[in-house]
Amino acid sequence: MKQLISESAIQSRVKSIGTLIQKDFQGEPVTVIGVLTGCLIFLSDLVRQLNLPVRIFFLRASSYRGNTTVPGNLEVDSSMLPDIQGKNILLIDDILDSGQTLAKLTKHLKEKGCGSIRTAVLLRKLGRQQHAIEPDYCGFEIPDEFVIGYGLDYNDEYRNLPFIGVLDPNQLPKGKS
Ligand code: IMP
Ligand code: MG
Repeated sequence: MKQLISESAIQSRVKSIGTLIQKDFQGEPVTVIGVLTGCLIFLSDLVRQLNLPVRIFFLRASSYRGNTTVPGNLEVDSSMLPDIQGKNILLIDDILDSGQTLAKLTKHLKEKGCGSIRTAVLLRKLGRQQHAIEPDYCGFEIPDEFVIGYGLDYNDEYRNLPFIGVLDPNQLPKGKS
């Protein structure tokens, strides 16, 4: 496994993103919604940079990918969310790949009547996007490689690595992510 982004580079970038968010929300309460499970580590580091009134909730989104990296249908479980009518949302995911997850989730949350919605991703894979969505906050742009660590998994493993790594190319991703 090759290291792509070090622990210290991630930590300093997360701090800068926190500063930007803090400035943009101008003391307003923020309803953070994390996309399980990949958001886990990014979200917990990022929210600790925010000196704002913060509430934290989660939803689940899974794209079934078969044995390729092409995303299939997105299944959304938002049963853990409270009423978000009129709330200012910060939606947090680990990575923007095709853009399907963020595009569909922002639409879903708008339909639920949220006041405003901003999106934050740690990573954005270049050359893969198929859905029009611009994240408001992005940690790093990365090449089209399958990455793991800092919340990102391969078959549910490696989420606990403190850095972002690239798996050996002959270990192709399988199943759902
Ligand atoms: P999108 O809907 O195609 O943008 O994909 C976003 C989701 O795909 C992320 O939330 C991840 O769960 C998963 N994903 C995409 N690329 C990778 C990767 O390189 N490693 C791990 N998970 C990934
Ligand atoms: Mg995910």
